[in-house]
Amino acid sequence: MKALIAYLSYSGNTEEVAEIISNKLVTEDFQTDRHRIGIDPPIDASDYDYIFMGTFTWDMGKTPDEFKDFVWEVGYKPANVAVFGTGDTQFGGDNLFCKAVDKLAAFYDSKWAGLKIEQSPRGSQEQKVSKWVEGVLHHAKNLA
Ligand SMILES: Cc1cc2nc3c(=O)[nH]c(=O)nc-3n(C[C@H](O)[C@H](O)[C@H](O)COP(=O)(O)O)c2cc1C
Repeated sequence: MKALIAYLSYSGNTEEVAEIISNKLVTEDFQTDRHRIGIDPPIDASDYDYIFMGTFTWDMGKTPDEFKDFVWEVGYKPANVAVFGTGDTQFGGDNLFCKAVDKLAAFYDSKWAGLKIEQSPRGSQEQKVSKWVEGVLHHAKNLA
């Protein structure tokens, strides 16, 4: 199985989540590629069995423009997109918390509830990331 982890991160929180996801996938014998949105050259989404997409939320619940450019670059809706993100409840409370995750999961008809992490995933939230990846992998194993 081959997975892409594509993410947008300004201050490193979403990148930390991407690293935990990547490490977990490697222990499960996935071949993984990392794609830093806005930095790395364009990818071909059809090369991957699973695509993990991550972003922070911005400006009153918005998806950052760079991420929208990436959605445009992918150009279609791949079947197995799992969405993760970081946010901060201080910016508008629960209603706006990680709103971009909800929007993207809906857009891609994701089979999995999006993963929402408050700021850095290090510490107690690390387990939450691992459990979420296990949920996605459960689906992958059922297909095998
Ligand atoms: C100007 C500004 C607006 C933000 N708006 C939101 C928001 O609407 N919802 C949310 O959950 N987080 C919001 N955040 C918090 C960021 O999404 C959060 O810090 C995130 O972890 C940053 O990700 P990164 O470290 O990967 O860049 C905002 C942060 C800033 C600086």
